[in-house]
Amino acid sequence: MTQDELKLAVAQAAIAYVVEGEIVGVGTGSTANFFIDELAKMKHKIKAAVASSEATAARLRGHGITVLDLNEVTSMPVYIDGADEITASGAMIKGGGAALTREKIVASVSQQFVCIADGSKLVDKLGRFPLPVEVIPMARESVIRALNAIAGEAKLRMKDGQALITDNGNVIVDVQGLQIDDPKDLERQINNIVGVVTVGLFAQQGANVCLLGTAEGVKTLK
Ligand code: 5RP
Repeated sequence: MTQDELKLAVAQAAIAYVVEGEIVGVGTGSTANFFIDELAKMKHKIKAAVASSEATAARLRGHGITVLDLNEVTSMPVYIDGADEITASGAMIKGGGAALTREKIVASVSQQFVCIADGSKLVDKLGRFPLPVEVIPMARESVIRALNAIAGEAKLRMKDGQALITDNGNVIVDVQGLQIDDPKDLERQINNIVGVVTVGLFAQQGANVCLLGTAEGVKTLK
């Protein structure tokens, strides 16, 4: 199976976690896009969606799915999103698509995080994928120095020759060369750096369920 076929398989499996008549939180990225396209097939059975990025909101609306502002929503039964890396216990690195802040916010208002990922995302230890950190632009250099002092090598994410700007008007710093032994502790440490908006470690609140696409079928890790 190709990676896209695995992504489609987990996106289809995730539909079973969508609660009819309720609001669903929707992630960002290529796997989430497969999920949005599947969700469109049952759009009349859900109340609405909350999007974790402008790109996701546009794709949902393109399918005729109502997108609510999170401020209008108290709670959602489920948030469904991909990951860049995930451990068997549900700790993740996210933010490859630069949507980590809104992803973490929408996930925090959801009762359950269902991660959908192809098998290549499952790791024993997080850190091979560069860890994204969203940063207030004026703190870019001070945060890079602070991240370098903790571990790894921090680099500003570029796009088309310029610093990539997030949906929130901030920049992304990616930390390479990490071996993350204690994801919750590193999440706390990076959260404490002044100027950091969000770190792409989802460990203090990780995934409750991971639907993993493998050649043998979709495996459910809880
Ligand atoms: C976006 C994310 C994505 O969930 C993550 O990058 C995985 O993306 P994909 O499904 O395209 O591999 O965190 O910020």
